[in-house]
Amino acid sequence: MIDTLELCIEHQKASKIHIGSGVFESLDTFLKTKHYSKLVVFTDQNTTEMCLPLIDQYYSFLNNAEIIELQDGEQSKSFSALQSIIEALIEYNIDRNALFIALGGGMIHDITGFIASIYKRGVDFISIPTSLLCMIDACLGGKTGINFKHVKNQIGSFYFAKHIYIYPAFTNSLPKQVYTSAMGEVLKYGLIDNASFFHKISAQKTVDQEDILKCLNIKMAFVKADPFDTGQRKKLNFGHTIGHALETSWTGKTPLLHGYAVGIGLLCEAYISKKRTGLSETEFKQIEKGVTSLLPPIKLNFNQDNFITAIKQDKKNSHHRIQIILLERIGNAIVYDNLSLDDLIESLDYYQSIT
Ligand code: GLY
Repeated sequence: MIDTLELCIEHQKASKIHIGSGVFESLDTFLKTKHYSKLVVFTDQNTTEMCLPLIDQYYSFLNNAEIIELQDGEQSKSFSALQSIIEALIEYNIDRNALFIALGGGMIHDITGFIASIYKRGVDFISIPTSLLCMIDACLGGKTGINFKHVKNQIGSFYFAKHIYIYPAFTNSLPKQVYTSAMGEVLKYGLIDNASFFHKISAQKTVDQEDILKCLNIKMAFVKADPFDTGQRKKLNFGHTIGHALETSWTGKTPLLHGYAVGIGLLCEAYISKKRTGLSETEFKQIEKGVTSLLPPIKLNFNQDNFITAIKQDKKNSHHRIQIILLERIGNAIVYDNLSLDDLIESLDYYQSIT
């Protein structure tokens, strides 16, 4: 069975979301009604090996597509990678009537969407998210971009995918920890908007199609209210101020997975909420229990100077005041715009004390 949702943003193409086991039939039908000059599929090694063959097995629409396989990891979200991709597109004679397809997780989506927004002044693009994190977040809402000088997503655009095709079974192709790490982001939706969803997810280890739809419905409401991230939409970043800064300043041997970074951010930002916005001790403990039962403890390895620099560069900040999203209650977030560095450091000390 396929469920659909539609996001309409003024002056932008609407994004139509299709979710279910039959989504590639819908994609096949869509492509038959269009006359794209070429399909260009952006993949990484994992999605080339695990996801492309699954589509190829039943559908022929990818037969003549160009495949651009990007290297895993954030290094693909750089100016030099961007330049190489554009050179390849020119070499393949890709014109503005082509269709770009992002087949992958957040990194693939950020870069595909960004190139789609600038190449020949804009090319249609569709999204096929393959990770749970991307299915519930990055595929929807039009944020695209690359990193610059170690700061995440400093250069980018808003450019909405025309269609989003979510095939939940792709999550089976993920390493277990990549799947698990996304659970923090799922909890986030409950924390900012829906207490009963938070309590439901806290008691689960995995999510189903209905839960994915619930996350997308919550995200869609925030994006519809504020598509270009000037107010309400910022609440989707609960857990991300600290999470992003940790990713940027991480010195551990292996990169910190985004979902784990967000999980740490949820706990630290809940801790600051308790201090600054009246989040009760009872709810704080419920958050601590929910997050720690779904995500493993992570030993913090980061460079404090780079962490502070990243916090100061956060795109939410304005007029040199550091903005952060805090909770008044579970299910109710606010934008708080006077974060002190002392509160930040204290919250990290709290996290270290429970790991
Ligand atoms: N991931 C947060 C947003 O799309 O606004």
